[in-house]
Amino acid sequence: MRAIEIRNKYLNFFKAHGHSVIPSAPLIPENDPSVLFTTAGMQPLVPYLLGQAHPAGTRLTDYQKCVRTNDIDEVGDNRHLTYFEMLGNWSLGDYFKEESIKMSFEFLTKELGIPVEKLSVTVFAGDEDCPRDEVAASCWKKAGILDGHIYYYGKDDNWWIAGETGPCGPDTEMFYDTGKPACSPECQPSCDCGKYVEIWNNVFMEYFKDEKGYSKLKQQNVDTGLGLERMTMLLQGKETPFDTEIFKPIMDKLVELQKVDIIESRRIIAEHLRSSMMIISDGGRPSNLDRGYVLRRLIRRMIRHMNKLQINLDEISTLVELNVDNLKELYPELEKNRETIKIVIVEEKDKFVKTLSNGEKEFNKEVNKLKNQGKNIIDGKMVFRLYDTYGFPPEVTKDLAEEADMQISMEEFDKLFKEHQEKSRAGATQKFKGGLASTGEMETKYHTATHLLNAALKQVLGSHVHQRGSNITEERMRFDFSHDSKMTEEQKKQTEDLVNQWINEAIPVQRLEMKKDEAIAIGAEAMFIEKYGENVTVYKIGDKSIELCGGPHVSNTKELGHFKIKKEEASSSGVRRIKAILD
Ligand code: ALA
Repeated sequence: MRAIEIRNKYLNFFKAHGHSVIPSAPLIPENDPSVLFTTAGMQPLVPYLLGQAHPAGTRLTDYQKCVRTNDIDEVGDNRHLTYFEMLGNWSLGDYFKEESIKMSFEFLTKELGIPVEKLSVTVFAGDEDCPRDEVAASCWKKAGILDGHIYYYGKDDNWWIAGETGPCGPDTEMFYDTGKPACSPECQPSCDCGKYVEIWNNVFMEYFKDEKGYSKLKQQNVDTGLGLERMTMLLQGKETPFDTEIFKPIMDKLVELQKVDIIESRRIIAEHLRSSMMIISDGGRPSNLDRGYVLRRLIRRMIRHMNKLQINLDEISTLVELNVDNLKELYPELEKNRETIKIVIVEEKDKFVKTLSNGEKEFNKEVNKLKNQGKNIIDGKMVFRLYDTYGFPPEVTKDLAEEADMQISMEEFDKLFKEHQEKSRAGATQKFKGGLASTGEMETKYHTATHLLNAALKQVLGSHVHQRGSNITEERMRFDFSHDSKMTEEQKKQTEDLVNQWINEAIPVQRLEMKKDEAIAIGAEAMFIEKYGENVTVYKIGDKSIELCGGPHVSNTKELGHFKIKKEEASSSGVRRIKAILD
């Protein structure tokens, strides 16, 4: 079965069981600056898991694009991926353990045709926070899981939470027996010898964890996640995801282009290429900070491995084209963003090539000096200077150090790098504050208008739009936002019309006070989350806009008069600027 067929089967199955199919949220979380990328299907759904009503109902299903970067250095082995697709279904206070388990069992055995002997499940063993999950175990038995195929584990294995705090609960995980011989008589699903592969995780999300401990949520939810690449690999009887149709064409092309044969490098290139393309397609751009830095690392690591295989770097465009063609059935947005993706990756490649040659020269000079002094340690300051002045990636310095038989102090570099990031953030915050400094009557109106414009742009252009800055005077407003291309006349008109429609609807502007975590949980938009303390003010304009903001604002949108866009232009790479007036 091909990946697309598995996805479609999944969505159709849950649709037939009363679930609404909702679209994948972008990889770059909307309104959640607390995480770099969407890492699980539940992440965009947090407000609804906490009790807010979801417009599509209490039974949802989707495929979610996810990026997890903690294992970036593991990519190249036979299983780690930075980008993956998670199929999921949710009950928001609707069904609970029995129905969830029944549906999972039916899907695996009937829809995917997995023989029941190949399935094992694990459930929560119980502790002081939550009882042993005999309910889940008996549901599995009832559904048809074989005797001896149910295992009980503690929090380390059978409890799920995204990060440190938030909605969470005991989970039950399903495992596929690959048929490989057991590594020992004790071999169980928790063993990572490769015999058992986890295929699906159903979380019974009825708890909330904060600094003080666990409490019960208002409702009993179910949150599940099934990794598409892994399932595809297993159903096709393949050893790695790189052998499935998702990666095969790129892997084959790399064999054709390479002059040196290193399978790990081919996997890294194929994996990072797909990840970078997906991130760029959802609005990400390389930079030296946070998300941008992750993307930069992915692209640059891919290029380093192209160098290792001695592949001409100009072939990068060929690889992008090939991958768009191969993946567009799964992700039609790649076709739409084909040119942008190519431009961004080629530009980053060119920058990196320059950086590499300058940095390597500098590195060699410094290392010669050290060696002449009889030293064999590169300190963190040198790694940082190479990074800060020459843009030389610390990972490359590390590789070169190894090749030159030098030791290297990465802890010291990490410390300096962190300090540097904090400084950049503070600088950006300062700029932002300046934009909204004065607070006369007209400025107040313009201030509210920026919130409406932000919301309207998201509707017209897409959810990748985020505020990048603003500047207000008595006469006009300026609003910078993330978006790649010039807006068409049609789009400008639609945006203007939406804002004016909301002004005419005379929507009250509400000022709410809450904890920062709560604001994040209900999806409030914020440009610089770090600049806010624990208690925040949120401005809510009906169901149109919700933003963390210090104000001031008008109390009803009707006070704004008439909104008009005067100009739309480029501000910097990937950022557009609108100048608008109220008359
Ligand atoms: N949120 C759960 C996971 O990511 C389903 O495994």
